[in-house]
Amino acid sequence: MNFDNFLVDDSIINSNSPILIKATGIVKNFYQAKEEVKVLQSVDFTLKKQESVAITGVSGAGKSTLLHILATLMEPTSGTIKLGSINIDYNNTKELESLRRKNLGIVFQFHYLLEDFSVLENVLLPLRIKSFYGSAIAPSYAKKKAKDLLVYLGLGHRLNFYPKDLSGGEKQRVAIARALIHEPDILFADEPTGNLDEENGEKLQQLLFELQKDLGLSLVVVTHDINFALECDSSLSMRAGQWENF
Ligand SMILES: Nc1ncnc2c1ncn2[C@@H]1O[C@H](COP(=O)(O)OP(=O)(O)OP(=O)(O)O)[C@@H](O)[C@H]1O
Ligand SMILES: [Mg+2]
Repeated sequence: MNFDNFLVDDSIINSNSPILIKATGIVKNFYQAKEEVKVLQSVDFTLKKQESVAITGVSGAGKSTLLHILATLMEPTSGTIKLGSINIDYNNTKELESLRRKNLGIVFQFHYLLEDFSVLENVLLPLRIKSFYGSAIAPSYAKKKAKDLLVYLGLGHRLNFYPKDLSGGEKQRVAIARALIHEPDILFADEPTGNLDEENGEKLQQLLFELQKDLGLSLVVVTHDINFALECDSSLSMRAGQWENF
């Protein structure tokens, strides 16, 4: 799979620093019926270029919350995040949008495919968002890239299927294609193998490592699968909003 020359290389994460994510002292509190729920308690996190990091831990530990914060989808109560050379400023919506559109890809715990759209249309959606890349991508070119990506992910025979007619593993792979179509620098995946049987879970896991190698992606993966975590370059375990053994 070669993505060269797909999109102009306008990565704003691009910097000479080998560190892609540097999160420091991340705290997240929610409020439920005026009660404060302390979910993340001063968490630090570092991701290097082309590194894969696994986040494990019991249900409710705060893994998805941290992933959403690292992917800039949620603002922490306190703490700082640096992506490449960019200090995240939640008031700078333009910069945040640009980061999300160009540099970050996310596969959610629940795949969130749009049921009324075909496989191909779901993957193309990020590029269809108005002003995504201005007029830089011709629709026919985008379509070819989406097809190539789906073929690479073993879904060439499912392009015109609707999500309801796909297996769990196929849906996960469509969600991965959708998260990759804009060539992010970092792929965040929240329990990507969570709903799969062992064989398909293993296949998806290998696929993510292939993508890491082939596309030079950096991976942050939340998983309950210890074997998957052990195959990542490093793994961290979370309990009650803190890293264990730290
Ligand atoms: N919007 C919210 N308001 C209040 N509490 C929340 C909110 N979102 C998450 N929480 C709480 O934060 C805690 C951590 O949630 P999170 O989804 O990050 O856990 P997780 O580690 O991903 O768990 P799982 O393995 O089950 O997916 C949970 O106890 C949850 O109830
Ligand atoms: Mg979760």
